[in-house]
Amino acid sequence: MKKIGILTSGGDCSGMNAAIRSATRTALGHGVQVVGFRKGYAGLLKPDFLEMGTKEVAGILHRGGTFLQSARSDEFRTPMGREKAVRHLGEMGVDGLVIIGGDGSLNGALALHRLGVPVIGIPASIDNDIPFTDMALGVDTALNNIIYAIDCIKDTASSHDRAFVVEVMGRNSGYLASTAAIASGAEYAIVPEVECDIQDLCDQLRTRWEEGRSNAIIVLAEGAGRAQDIADTVKDVIGFETRVTVLGHYQRGGAPSVFDRLLGSRLGHAAVELLLEGQKGKMVGLCCNSIVPTLLETVVVSEKRQPDELHNLSLILGI
Ligand code: F6P
Repeated sequence: MKKIGILTSGGDCSGMNAAIRSATRTALGHGVQVVGFRKGYAGLLKPDFLEMGTKEVAGILHRGGTFLQSARSDEFRTPMGREKAVRHLGEMGVDGLVIIGGDGSLNGALALHRLGVPVIGIPASIDNDIPFTDMALGVDTALNNIIYAIDCIKDTASSHDRAFVVEVMGRNSGYLASTAAIASGAEYAIVPEVECDIQDLCDQLRTRWEEGRSNAIIVLAEGAGRAQDIADTVKDVIGFETRVTVLGHYQRGGAPSVFDRLLGSRLGHAAVELLLEGQKGKMVGLCCNSIVPTLLETVVVSEKRQPDELHNLSLILGI
């Protein structure tokens, strides 16, 4: 293998830069050239890319987002778009790809693999909903961002005797909501995987209220209901003054945590080593603190549901 390409696709997250840097420097160390495609699959289609030397990836490890930028490409989802991408890779002499992203990006990686491109995927999504990895890139940093925000909100909640509904990301996954609730000491977590018992929520908050504990934090995953509806119900049923805070894209940015810097560095390195060994069509994941490859075919047909244990714990500790 003489030249590899790297791209980041789908929603960005902290730790992507660590993976790009590590993959680049690992390849260069083996005498393999590296190109970085800009804006994910869209960069393969133009093509829009830059030659990556060790200098190009200097000074990015501590920065959030992805310096290669990211995008979602409709054209790449079409058979013609995919064939065009393969043609460009051939013309450029790129004989292996490292693709960093979430489930949509890994599906794209599998499509390229099926068209004969050697590909290794790296899981990156703050939702932590990618199977065959204990943690995806960006999750830990996003959680730290959420905890910082909730700590701030708790200060003002206690000053004003208010209940806050804090909406976090996760359309189909309650991982961020449950783990943030546990780690911030929130009173309740509402997640898409488990139907919310609003009566149970109100009973719990009323007990607190009657005991004189007159502020509360409810963490809501974005896919599990409307924050304002929950706030209105809590106000109507208990009399709590309520406020809503939607954390939105704030969660996805910021300097990566040590965990995400290490994970990105380990996954980026492993991805390139596998490509150079001739392995392909796999995703590297973190399993019991080891880096383990799994076939992309297996990854994309599997589902990762957050353990019920986490949601249960958030409710047990929220009383
Ligand atoms: O999949 C990651 C994620 O951050 C989700 O949690 C969120 O719903 C979505 O991306 C937001 O996507 P966009 O950046 O396109 O608004």
